[in-house]
Amino acid sequence: MYSEKVMDHFANPRNVGEIPDADGVGEVGNPVCGDIMKIYIKVKDDVITDIKFKTFGCGAAIATSSMITEMAKGKKLEEALKLSNRQVAEALDGLPPQKMHCSNLAADALHAAIADYRTKQRP
Ligand code: FES
Repeated sequence: MYSEKVMDHFANPRNVGEIPDADGVGEVGNPVCGDIMKIYIKVKDDVITDIKFKTFGCGAAIATSSMITEMAKGKKLEEALKLSNRQVAEALDGLPPQKMHCSNLAADALHAAIADYRTKQRP
């Protein structure tokens, strides 16, 4: 019931870990299931130069976090903010309907990390 891409990103997640000197960190919990995702970003000249994630969650949550880090890396903050859970799910060739809520975490955590970065930039 999972696509090959989901299985691949679940079995071999990209960009797992932490960035100790991250410029922005976003953490979100999924109200539906209680799973948690944290995304760390490094930013230079408004571009996401590095990104890592830690997810305590189901396979779909891990696959979507892995995919969104790949999609966001090298993107301008403005473009990264436009990434939606739907786009992440599409990039993974779809998620089972009952697992769509899992993809919310990835987009929300990324957006939270960007918001955190922007807050820290203000004097
Ligand atoms: Fe919790 Fe998927 S079941 S994120």
